[in-house]
Amino acid sequence: MEPRTQRLTVAILGTGAMARYLAYHLDAIHPWIIGRVSPPYQIMELGRSHQVVQPAYWGWDTLPPHPPDIVLLAVKWRGLSTAQRWIAQHAPQSVVISFMNGMGQEEILHELPHVVLAMGITTTAITRQDDNIPTIRIVSRGSTVVPHVADARLDVLKTYGNQYHWGWQWVTPGRMQNLRWQKLVQNSIINPLTVLANCPNGELIRHPLWQLAQPLTDEASPVARAEGTAIPSDMLARVARLLEDTRDNWSSMAQDVHAGLPTEIDAINGYIVSHARRHHLLVPTHEALTVLVSKLGQG
Ligand code: PAF
Repeated sequence: MEPRTQRLTVAILGTGAMARYLAYHLDAIHPWIIGRVSPPYQIMELGRSHQVVQPAYWGWDTLPPHPPDIVLLAVKWRGLSTAQRWIAQHAPQSVVISFMNGMGQEEILHELPHVVLAMGITTTAITRQDDNIPTIRIVSRGSTVVPHVADARLDVLKTYGNQYHWGWQWVTPGRMQNLRWQKLVQNSIINPLTVLANCPNGELIRHPLWQLAQPLTDEASPVARAEGTAIPSDMLARVARLLEDTRDNWSSMAQDVHAGLPTEIDAINGYIVSHARRHHLLVPTHEALTVLVSKLGQG
């Protein structure tokens, strides 16, 4: 049964690992994928291989047939301004759900006055391999959380999600600030440390650099508190669990460094540093990691 699938158009912005995963995951509702048109790719999960139907691609400069109802923002930070221009031009009144890492993108997206913003998070762990056949390896589906902002289009999306078993959690918008800070702290530990240790997530816990996880958490907590939210006292155990769940994954930042691409360090540890300054708090470990990884990002 394909009820109402034609009534809601979902556009996924980006063509990286997350965007391609979402195109596969939401296949039943035929999302568009917006960005650089890419060849077909395969999805691997738990060693199984699925040949994916080529999603419907639209280039950044192609005029889509009509404005989409919902935009899933799955670009990296380096693609945000292109995505923002696309939304302004082609989806100015859409609901925009962001799955980007880091924080601060909401301040940029608020410049689009008529979009309805839903700042989500995901711990889906995907490694992209562009070998013979471009492959997206799903290491862990993790959890995906979306705020249930009052909007009829989101009600329909939620219905689809239940019908097709996407496993998304829908929470009241008021809970997102805390969940986003928790995800920020997780990324601020896992991403730069796996870059510097040059290891997949699962090996970090046995690496000497793991000793920085405690000071990173201790430094971030007062900043979160000053921003009006509390980091749970068992945060380090949560990070360790996420590392274990995603043990075979290379963090998105490590994948960026391997590909010679700019990293998202400024939106992760850099965000903590800039917000610490606003509150006259010291975060020397975050500051040091921001400087070190930024240097790597410059090649
Ligand atoms: O950025 C990443 O790589 C991901 O957010 C996560 C969940 C840390 C898995 O590697």
